[in-house]
Amino acid sequence: MSCTPIKCFHLFILSICLLYQKQSLAESKVGDLRIIGGNVVTNRSHFAYQASISYRTYHFCGGTIISENKILTAAHCSIYENGYNFNLRELKVIVSHLKLNSAAKIYSVSKVIPHPNFDRSTMQNDIAILKIRSSFEPWSEMVQPIPLSKNLPVPSTNCIISGWGKLDENEAGGSNDLRSAYVQILKCEQFLASSIIKMGMFCAGSFTGETDSCQGDSGGPLVCNNTLVGIVSWGVGCGRPRLPGVYTDVSRYLDWIAESCSMGTSSLSLTCVSFISLVILLLK
Ligand SMILES: *[C@@H]1O[C@H](CO)[C@@H](O)[C@H](O)[C@H]1NC(C)=O
Ligand SMILES: *[C@@H]1O[C@H](CO)[C@@H](O)[C@H](O)[C@H]1NC(C)=O
Repeated sequence: MSCTPIKCFHLFILSICLLYQKQSLAESKVGDLRIIGGNVVTNRSHFAYQASISYRTYHFCGGTIISENKILTAAHCSIYENGYNFNLRELKVIVSHLKLNSAAKIYSVSKVIPHPNFDRSTMQNDIAILKIRSSFEPWSEMVQPIPLSKNLPVPSTNCIISGWGKLDENEAGGSNDLRSAYVQILKCEQFLASSIIKMGMFCAGSFTGETDSCQGDSGGPLVCNNTLVGIVSWGVGCGRPRLPGVYTDVSRYLDWIAESCSMGTSSLSLTCVSFISLVILLLK
């Protein structure tokens, strides 16, 4: 099911929606457009790996360039809610810009690969790959991939998050400027009930809630020591004291990322055909 063809993807979304009617306890950081706390980024080359994902020209999630034709994002950014399907032609990956409304490099998406075990009710496995139709290459100062971390996040490490998300959880709109903030890796169990923290999640923020990610930052990068350690996933509100943001732990998904990127196409159409039959059966 990993490298799903487009038609299959639509059915996949539909079935996810049928299977997970349950409203999520987690407030996912998708939707409108700012980073809590932090600063406006003035030199794009310091965040050359940052991408924006837009639908019908509206930014709705962040992403991270990981190779010449792929970005990593959150699964909840790749699957629409409420049975509404993405029209792949309206989905774009945008890089090299500081402001959402300024000139940028825009790429069409050829494939959306959400983690097959993504669970919207718990937000577990909140990771997805978006493949672009062409290539980000040639690399430039403003457009660069970032290596994935091979190590589990270490509490107390200082890291940096970035995105065009909300500056405040109560705000309606987002930031037109790319913003970034320092956060620290925290032990989830000090702040959140252990039952809601699943394998593959970790926490980061500040004790006081001064800096955090928010709606519109979802899918974007958490970088420590110049490697991609986390993907913005969910949180209880944004920037609330003692409620850190929750991130997908990239180091736990290295095998899935490698497999998803190297899967052949012939076996996929078969998977799709059998999947369509399954959905038709379910809908009867
Ligand atoms: C941006 O940062 C890079 C790397 O630190 C530096 O070489 C470059 O001069 C900076 N550009 C501007 C306009 O400050
Ligand atoms: C940061 O990365 C470099 C290699 O890129 C490594 O030598 C160094 O030990 C790392 N530092 C930490 C704190 O992980």
